[in-house]
Amino acid sequence: MRQKKATRNVEKALLWYKPLVAALTGDRRRCEAFPKPRKNSAGTKAPLVRESMDAPDCVIEPLRDAEDIQQCARMMVSSEPWTTLRRTYEEALQVLHDASRETYVARSGGQLVGFLILCMTGAFVGYIQTVCVDPRWRRRRFGSALIRFAEQRIFREQPNVFMCVSSFNLNAQRLYLRLGYEVVGDLKNYVVAGLSEILLRKTIAPLKDWKSVRPRQ
Ligand SMILES: CC(C)(COP(=O)(O)OP(=O)(O)OC[C@H]1O[C@@H](n2cnc3c(N)ncnc32)[C@H](O)[C@@H]1OP(=O)(O)O)[C@@H](O)C(=O)NCCC(=O)NCCS
Repeated sequence: MRQKKATRNVEKALLWYKPLVAALTGDRRRCEAFPKPRKNSAGTKAPLVRESMDAPDCVIEPLRDAEDIQQCARMMVSSEPWTTLRRTYEEALQVLHDASRETYVARSGGQLVGFLILCMTGAFVGYIQTVCVDPRWRRRRFGSALIRFAEQRIFREQPNVFMCVSSFNLNAQRLYLRLGYEVVGDLKNYVVAGLSEILLRKTIAPLKDWKSVRPRQ
């Protein structure tokens, strides 16, 4: 009896051990990899609406309507890297309407300040296809907030986050390296001739181990 109780105590202690070590060592990857499962009042999966620690007045939520889509498309085609990559408004609308993607917007004081497109199917599942912040709102951590949101969303289901960054987009590269991404490849002449897309990855476990350590949904 006493032995059983002791075993239960050890098991309980172990439950706390990993998150505690992660918190003490500042290992955000591990902390974020195992978010507490949240339920809404209907008892189903909580809606993906999040206030961010990176930009405290930022709310991230799914894209709402046609006005959101048009605003995101305008933001995309008027900004690098898409001007160099010759993205048209029609192409931007098509990407934003793609039902196989998940699109989220960041708002501050009700104003749309940026957006994020995720791909949760296919070979590179967990792919951040697009992240963009309105130039008037850059360098206020909205980009970091969107990427952390994407990571939390993806790490609930997959152990890898992938994204591409253009070879000439040095500012974005600096940000991604700072957020813990590693270069895994160079896709030469991928979108336009003479330029590369650099494939990046952030991981929390090999696929085989992930099956046994992933949090229960
Ligand atoms: C990349 C992007 C999403 C970052 O958003 P953000 O809100 O400015 O990012 P944060 O405030 O969280 O982080 C700022 C950091 O991003 C980097 N950065 C990215 N773009 C930058 C720019 N145009 N000017 C200066 N720094 C930039 C810097 O490292 C900066 O860090 P610093 O302020 O310490 O120098 C935003 O600049 C953007 O939309 N750029 C155009 C689209 C784009 O390049 N998307 C990425 C395609 S892969």
